[in-house]
Amino acid sequence: MAATLKSVARQAAACTLCPLYRNATQTVFGEGPSGAALMLVGEQPGDQEDIAGRPFVGPAGKVLDRALAAAGIAREAVYLTNAVKHFKNEPRGKKRLHKRPDRGEVEVCKVWLRQEIGLVRPRLVVALGVTAATALMGRPVVLARTRGRAVDFSDGQRGLVTLHPSAILRMPDDAARREGLAGLVKDLRTAVSLAAQAPAGDGR
Ligand code: URA
Repeated sequence: MAATLKSVARQAAACTLCPLYRNATQTVFGEGPSGAALMLVGEQPGDQEDIAGRPFVGPAGKVLDRALAAAGIAREAVYLTNAVKHFKNEPRGKKRLHKRPDRGEVEVCKVWLRQEIGLVRPRLVVALGVTAATALMGRPVVLARTRGRAVDFSDGQRGLVTLHPSAILRMPDDAARREGLAGLVKDLRTAVSLAAQAPAGDGR
């Protein structure tokens, strides 16, 4: 039987390919229409995403929602996912501290991202932040040198790299955050125009 997003999500729900499932509530698979022109790839689900089972529903998701709205992109029209499908965290009392996934975990988890890209066949994939960019480029990426323009990811997929919405939340003051958000919006607008130029349903 041919794979669908639903069938792959079902397989991913039982994923034990790396140890991250042990400290997570559930696999957080991507969501959005198959055939979406744009796919956005974050790092990994955060605390709230882990509980809700949906990507980008916590504080970083709120920033992303603002940026999407300002760029004129309907959230429901894009496919949203993460490079790593489990929340990597370290339990500390009642809290769970976010930990960045390592290269091995990102590499192993690409089995799911590759299938999402193959099934959605977006015109353009947007990597949000260094983890997603490294996963998709297949090599370490310097954000400042790569962001905001068309790039070819290692599988030939057309893409664009921009900053992660969480990076905006970590900025030191309102002025920096405003500037960070404006930069993300600008990159998302560029993504829309690159997607419009790409051949339908196949960004490679
Ligand atoms: N950060 C991410 O990279 N992805 C999410 O889904 C939430 C926060």
